[in-house]
Amino acid sequence: MLKNLQSTTVLHNGVEMPWFGLGVWRVENGKEAVNAVKAALKNGYRSIDTAAVYQNEEGVGQGIRESGVPRENIFVTSKVWNSDQGYESTLEAFDASLKRLGLDYLDLYLIHWPVKGKYKDTWRALEKLYKDGRVRAIGVSNFHVHHLEDLLQDAEIKPMVNQVEFHPRLTQLELRTYCKEHGIQFEAWSPLMQGGLLDNGVISEIGEKYNKTAAQVILRWDIQSGVVTIPKSIKEHRIIENSDIFNFELTYEEMEKIDALNEDKRVGADPDNFNF
Ligand SMILES: NC(=O)c1ccc[n+]([C@@H]2O[C@H](COP(=O)([O-])OP(=O)(O)OC[C@H]3O[C@@H](n4cnc5c(N)ncnc54)[C@H](OP(=O)(O)O)[C@@H]3O)[C@@H](O)[C@H]2O)c1
Repeated sequence: MLKNLQSTTVLHNGVEMPWFGLGVWRVENGKEAVNAVKAALKNGYRSIDTAAVYQNEEGVGQGIRESGVPRENIFVTSKVWNSDQGYESTLEAFDASLKRLGLDYLDLYLIHWPVKGKYKDTWRALEKLYKDGRVRAIGVSNFHVHHLEDLLQDAEIKPMVNQVEFHPRLTQLELRTYCKEHGIQFEAWSPLMQGGLLDNGVISEIGEKYNKTAAQVILRWDIQSGVVTIPKSIKEHRIIENSDIFNFELTYEEMEKIDALNEDKRVGADPDNFNF
Protein backbone atom coordinates (compact mmCIF):
# COMPACT_ATOMS: atom_id res chain seq x y z
CA MET A 1 0.00 0.00 0.00
CA LEU A 2 2.82 2.45 0.86
CA LYS A 3 5.34 1.14 -1.64
CA ASN A 4 6.51 4.32 -3.32
CA LEU A 5 5.49 7.91 -3.89
CA GLN A 6 3.12 6.85 -6.60
CA SER A 7 1.22 4.60 -4.21
CA THR A 8 -2.41 5.56 -3.86
CA THR A 9 -5.34 5.53 -1.50
CA VAL A 10 -8.71 4.64 -3.01
CA LEU A 11 -11.34 7.33 -2.48
CA HIS A 12 -14.91 6.27 -1.72
CA ASN A 13 -15.87 6.61 -5.39
CA GLY A 14 -13.06 4.28 -6.47
CA VAL A 15 -10.69 6.98 -7.73
CA GLU A 16 -7.06 6.50 -6.77
CA MET A 17 -5.28 9.44 -5.15
CA PRO A 18 -1.52 9.41 -4.41
CA TRP A 19 -0.65 9.43 -0.71
CA PHE A 20 2.06 11.95 -1.46
CA GLY A 21 2.15 15.14 -3.49
CA LEU A 22 3.58 18.63 -3.90
CA GLY A 23 1.84 21.65 -2.39
CA VAL A 24 2.38 24.98 -4.12
CA TRP A 25 1.01 27.65 -1.79
CA ARG A 26 3.27 30.73 -1.84
CA VAL A 27 5.00 29.47 -4.96
CA GLU A 28 5.26 32.32 -7.42
CA ASN A 29 3.47 32.02 -10.72
CA GLY A 30 5.87 31.72 -13.67
CA LYS A 31 9.32 30.21 -13.43
CA GLU A 32 9.15 29.28 -9.76
CA ALA A 33 5.93 27.29 -10.15
CA VAL A 34 6.97 25.77 -13.47
CA ASN A 35 10.30 24.61 -12.05
CA ALA A 36 8.89 23.25 -8.78
CA VAL A 37 6.23 21.23 -10.60
CA LYS A 38 8.73 19.94 -13.16
CA ALA A 39 11.23 19.00 -10.44
CA ALA A 40 8.54 17.11 -8.54
CA LEU A 41 7.23 15.24 -11.57
CA LYS A 42 10.76 14.42 -12.73
CA ASN A 43 11.46 12.89 -9.33
CA GLY A 44 8.39 10.68 -9.30
CA TYR A 45 5.69 12.86 -7.73
CA ARG A 46 2.29 12.32 -9.35
CA SER A 47 0.11 14.75 -7.38
CA ILE A 48 0.06 18.55 -7.33
CA ASP A 49 -2.06 20.67 -4.97
CA THR A 50 -2.88 24.21 -6.08
CA ALA A 51 -5.80 26.63 -5.62
CA ALA A 52 -7.24 29.61 -7.43
CA VAL A 53 -6.13 31.88 -4.60
CA TYR A 54 -2.49 30.77 -4.94
CA GLN A 55 -2.47 32.60 -8.26
CA ASN A 56 -0.10 30.11 -9.82
CA GLU A 57 -2.41 27.81 -11.77
CA GLU A 58 -0.87 28.96 -15.08
CA GLY A 59 2.62 28.04 -13.88
CA VAL A 60 1.41 24.72 -12.54
CA GLY A 61 -0.23 23.89 -15.87
CA GLN A 62 2.89 24.86 -17.77
CA GLY A 63 5.04 22.73 -15.46
CA ILE A 64 2.74 19.76 -16.06
CA ARG A 65 2.91 20.18 -19.84
CA GLU A 66 6.68 20.67 -19.89
CA SER A 67 7.28 17.68 -17.61
CA GLY A 68 6.46 15.21 -20.35
CA VAL A 69 4.48 13.10 -17.86
CA PRO A 70 1.14 12.15 -19.43
CA ARG A 71 -1.75 14.15 -17.99
CA GLU A 72 -3.67 11.02 -17.03
CA ASN A 73 -0.81 9.95 -14.77
CA ILE A 74 -0.99 13.14 -12.69
CA PHE A 75 -3.49 13.91 -9.94
CA VAL A 76 -4.29 17.63 -10.02
CA THR A 77 -6.15 19.37 -7.20
CA SER A 78 -7.49 22.91 -7.15
CA LYS A 79 -9.92 24.77 -4.90
CA VAL A 80 -12.70 27.31 -5.19
CA TRP A 81 -11.85 30.50 -3.31
CA ASN A 82 -14.15 32.03 -0.70
CA SER A 83 -15.22 35.06 -2.74
CA ASP A 84 -16.36 32.75 -5.56
CA GLN A 85 -18.59 30.60 -3.42
CA GLY A 86 -22.24 30.12 -4.37
CA TYR A 87 -23.69 27.93 -7.13
CA GLU A 88 -23.20 29.88 -10.37
CA SER A 89 -20.02 31.60 -9.27
CA THR A 90 -18.41 28.28 -8.37
CA LEU A 91 -19.20 26.87 -11.80
CA GLU A 92 -17.56 29.94 -13.30
CA ALA A 93 -14.57 29.71 -10.96
CA PHE A 94 -14.05 26.08 -11.96
CA ASP A 95 -13.98 27.00 -15.65
CA ALA A 96 -11.54 29.80 -14.94
CA SER A 97 -9.22 27.47 -13.00
CA LEU A 98 -9.25 24.89 -15.78
CA LYS A 99 -8.51 27.59 -18.31
CA ARG A 100 -5.56 28.93 -16.32
CA LEU A 101 -4.23 25.40 -15.83
CA GLY A 102 -4.75 24.61 -19.50
CA LEU A 103 -6.46 21.35 -18.57
CA ASP A 104 -9.79 19.86 -19.59
CA TYR A 105 -10.57 18.15 -16.29
CA LEU A 106 -9.43 18.16 -12.66
CA ASP A 107 -8.80 15.16 -10.47
CA LEU A 108 -10.00 16.84 -7.29
CA TYR A 109 -11.83 20.11 -6.65
CA LEU A 110 -12.23 21.34 -3.09
CA ILE A 111 -14.23 23.99 -1.26
CA HIS A 112 -11.29 25.93 0.16
CA TRP A 113 -12.98 27.16 3.38
CA PRO A 114 -16.48 26.65 4.85
CA VAL A 115 -17.95 30.07 4.07
CA LYS A 116 -21.06 30.41 6.21
CA GLY A 117 -24.36 30.49 4.36
CA LYS A 118 -22.64 29.62 1.10
CA TYR A 119 -20.87 26.29 1.27
CA LYS A 120 -24.00 24.23 0.61
CA ASP A 121 -24.68 26.05 -2.67
CA THR A 122 -21.00 25.69 -3.51
CA TRP A 123 -21.27 21.97 -2.82
CA ARG A 124 -24.24 21.63 -5.21
CA ALA A 125 -22.03 23.15 -7.90
CA LEU A 126 -19.26 20.67 -7.15
CA GLU A 127 -21.81 17.83 -7.36
CA LYS A 128 -22.87 19.11 -10.78
CA LEU A 129 -19.26 19.31 -12.00
CA TYR A 130 -18.69 15.78 -10.75
CA LYS A 131 -21.84 14.40 -12.36
CA ASP A 132 -20.93 16.13 -15.61
CA GLY A 133 -17.60 14.30 -15.58
CA ARG A 134 -15.51 17.45 -15.36
CA VAL A 135 -13.76 16.45 -12.14
CA ARG A 136 -12.94 12.94 -10.95
CA ALA A 137 -13.47 13.62 -7.24
CA ILE A 138 -14.84 16.44 -5.08
CA GLY A 139 -14.17 17.38 -1.50
CA VAL A 140 -13.81 20.05 1.11
CA SER A 141 -11.04 21.77 3.01
CA ASN A 142 -10.95 23.24 6.50
CA PHE A 143 -14.20 21.58 7.50
CA HIS A 144 -14.70 20.76 11.18
CA VAL A 145 -16.97 17.88 12.20
CA HIS A 146 -19.95 20.22 12.56
CA HIS A 147 -19.41 21.62 9.05
CA LEU A 148 -19.34 18.10 7.64
CA GLU A 149 -22.44 17.09 9.59
CA ASP A 150 -24.27 20.12 8.30
CA LEU A 151 -23.16 19.50 4.71
CA LEU A 152 -24.08 15.82 4.83
CA GLN A 153 -27.66 16.68 5.76
CA ASP A 154 -28.27 17.98 2.25
CA ALA A 155 -25.47 16.53 0.17
CA GLU A 156 -26.27 14.03 -2.53
CA ILE A 157 -22.64 13.04 -2.80
CA LYS A 158 -20.40 12.69 0.22
CA PRO A 159 -17.09 14.59 0.01
CA MET A 160 -14.27 12.25 -0.95
CA VAL A 161 -11.59 14.29 0.82
CA ASN A 162 -11.22 16.78 3.69
CA GLN A 163 -7.94 18.71 3.51
CA VAL A 164 -7.07 20.39 6.81
CA GLU A 165 -4.14 21.61 8.85
CA PHE A 166 -2.41 18.57 10.33
CA HIS A 167 1.03 18.03 11.86
CA PRO A 168 2.43 16.66 15.12
CA ARG A 169 1.24 19.77 17.02
CA LEU A 170 -2.30 19.43 15.64
CA THR A 171 -3.28 15.81 15.29
CA GLN A 172 -7.04 16.35 14.88
CA LEU A 173 -8.01 13.01 16.37
CA GLU A 174 -11.76 13.66 16.58
CA LEU A 175 -11.97 14.98 13.02
CA ARG A 176 -9.81 12.17 11.69
CA THR A 177 -11.99 9.56 13.36
CA TYR A 178 -15.12 11.19 11.97
CA CYS A 179 -13.69 11.26 8.45
CA LYS A 180 -12.61 7.64 8.70
CA GLU A 181 -16.07 6.55 9.83
CA HIS A 182 -17.61 8.37 6.87
CA GLY A 183 -15.16 7.20 4.22
CA ILE A 184 -13.76 10.72 3.75
CA GLN A 185 -10.02 10.67 3.04
CA PHE A 186 -8.13 12.94 5.45
CA GLU A 187 -5.44 15.10 3.87
CA ALA A 188 -2.84 17.24 5.65
CA TRP A 189 -1.96 20.81 4.83
CA SER A 190 1.14 22.42 6.34
CA PRO A 191 2.37 18.93 7.26
CA LEU A 192 5.75 20.38 8.24
CA MET A 193 4.05 23.13 10.25
CA GLN A 194 5.59 25.43 7.64
CA GLY A 195 9.06 24.41 8.78
CA GLY A 196 8.33 25.06 12.47
CA LEU A 197 8.85 21.50 13.70
CA LEU A 198 12.09 20.56 12.05
CA ASP A 199 14.26 21.11 15.12
CA ASN A 200 12.02 19.12 17.45
CA GLY A 201 14.12 16.81 19.65
CA VAL A 202 11.73 13.85 19.71
CA ILE A 203 11.37 13.83 15.94
CA SER A 204 15.08 14.35 15.25
CA GLU A 205 16.00 11.53 17.60
CA ILE A 206 13.72 9.12 15.78
CA GLY A 207 15.25 10.32 12.51
CA GLU A 208 18.77 9.53 13.70
CA LYS A 209 17.85 5.89 14.11
CA TYR A 210 16.84 5.62 10.44
CA ASN A 211 19.27 8.19 9.07
CA LYS A 212 16.32 10.37 8.09
CA THR A 213 15.65 14.08 8.55
CA ALA A 214 12.91 15.45 10.79
CA ALA A 215 10.88 16.34 7.68
CA GLN A 216 11.08 12.75 6.47
CA VAL A 217 10.02 11.38 9.85
CA ILE A 218 6.99 13.68 9.98
CA LEU A 219 5.92 12.87 6.43
CA ARG A 220 6.32 9.14 7.07
CA TRP A 221 4.19 9.55 10.22
CA ASP A 222 1.52 11.19 8.03
CA ILE A 223 1.19 8.36 5.58
CA GLN A 224 1.48 5.66 8.26
CA SER A 225 -1.41 7.49 9.98
CA GLY A 226 -3.50 7.10 6.83
CA VAL A 227 -3.19 10.79 5.99
CA VAL A 228 -2.49 12.07 2.47
CA THR A 229 0.29 14.65 2.57
CA ILE A 230 1.42 17.48 0.27
CA PRO A 231 4.54 19.24 1.62
CA LYS A 232 5.62 22.36 -0.24
CA SER A 233 9.12 23.11 -1.41
CA ILE A 234 10.56 25.02 -4.32
CA LYS A 235 14.00 23.49 -3.84
CA GLU A 236 14.70 20.35 -5.81
CA HIS A 237 16.91 18.79 -3.11
CA ARG A 238 14.08 19.17 -0.58
CA ILE A 239 11.49 17.97 -3.08
CA ILE A 240 13.58 14.81 -3.35
CA GLU A 241 14.29 14.62 0.40
CA ASN A 242 10.62 14.93 1.35
CA SER A 243 9.58 12.08 -0.88
CA ASP A 244 12.30 9.69 0.24
CA ILE A 245 10.15 8.09 2.91
CA PHE A 246 9.13 4.79 1.39
CA ASN A 247 12.13 2.78 2.56
CA PHE A 248 11.66 2.82 6.34
CA GLU A 249 8.85 2.22 8.77
CA LEU A 250 8.16 3.84 12.14
CA THR A 251 7.34 1.47 14.98
CA TYR A 252 4.10 1.66 16.88
CA GLU A 253 5.95 3.26 19.82
CA GLU A 254 7.52 5.89 17.57
CA MET A 255 4.14 6.69 16.05
CA GLU A 256 2.75 7.15 19.56
CA LYS A 257 5.66 9.38 20.59
CA ILE A 258 4.93 11.68 17.67
CA ASP A 259 1.17 11.59 18.37
CA ALA A 260 1.98 12.71 21.91
CA LEU A 261 3.47 15.98 20.61
CA ASN A 262 -0.06 17.24 19.96
CA GLU A 263 -0.90 20.61 21.52
CA ASP A 264 -3.94 21.42 19.36
CA LYS A 265 -1.81 24.23 18.02
CA ARG A 266 -2.56 25.85 14.67
CA VAL A 267 -0.29 27.87 12.38
CA GLY A 268 -3.22 28.73 10.13
CA ALA A 269 -6.69 30.07 10.82
CA ASP A 270 -9.35 28.18 12.74
CA PRO A 271 -12.18 27.27 10.34
CA ASP A 272 -14.64 28.58 12.94
CA ASN A 273 -13.02 31.96 12.97
CA PHE A 274 -11.53 33.18 9.72
CA ASN A 275 -11.93 36.59 8.16
CA PHE A 276 -10.97 36.08 4.53
N1 LIG B 1 -6.42 24.06 2.10
C1 LIG B 1 -5.80 25.02 2.74
O1 LIG B 1 -6.42 25.92 3.33
C2 LIG B 1 -4.32 25.04 2.77
C3 LIG B 1 -3.63 25.89 3.65
C4 LIG B 1 -2.25 25.86 3.65
C5 LIG B 1 -1.57 25.00 2.80
N2 LIG B 1 -2.26 24.19 1.93
C6 LIG B 1 -1.56 23.25 1.00
O2 LIG B 1 -0.64 22.48 1.75
C7 LIG B 1 0.67 22.65 1.19
C8 LIG B 1 1.74 22.49 2.26
O3 LIG B 1 1.57 23.40 3.30
P1 LIG B 1 2.51 24.70 3.53
O4 LIG B 1 3.07 25.11 2.23
O5 LIG B 1 1.71 25.69 4.27
O6 LIG B 1 3.64 24.22 4.53
P2 LIG B 1 4.62 22.97 4.73
O7 LIG B 1 4.58 22.06 3.57
O8 LIG B 1 4.34 22.44 6.08
O9 LIG B 1 6.03 23.69 4.82
C9 LIG B 1 6.57 24.38 3.73
C10 LIG B 1 7.78 25.18 4.22
O10 LIG B 1 8.80 24.29 4.69
C11 LIG B 1 9.98 24.42 3.89
N3 LIG B 1 10.45 23.04 3.65
C12 LIG B 1 9.90 22.11 2.86
N4 LIG B 1 10.58 20.96 2.93
C13 LIG B 1 11.60 21.15 3.78
C14 LIG B 1 12.66 20.34 4.25
N5 LIG B 1 12.79 19.08 3.86
N6 LIG B 1 13.54 20.87 5.14
C15 LIG B 1 13.39 22.16 5.55
N7 LIG B 1 12.41 22.98 5.15
C16 LIG B 1 11.53 22.48 4.26
C17 LIG B 1 9.57 25.15 2.64
O11 LIG B 1 10.58 26.00 2.15
P3 LIG B 1 11.21 25.89 0.66
O12 LIG B 1 10.11 26.00 -0.33
O13 LIG B 1 12.15 27.05 0.63
O14 LIG B 1 11.92 24.56 0.61
C18 LIG B 1 8.41 26.01 3.15
O15 LIG B 1 8.89 27.18 3.75
C19 LIG B 1 0.58 24.05 0.58
O16 LIG B 1 1.64 24.33 -0.31
C20 LIG B 1 -0.77 24.01 -0.06
O17 LIG B 1 -0.73 23.26 -1.26
C21 LIG B 1 -3.62 24.20 1.92
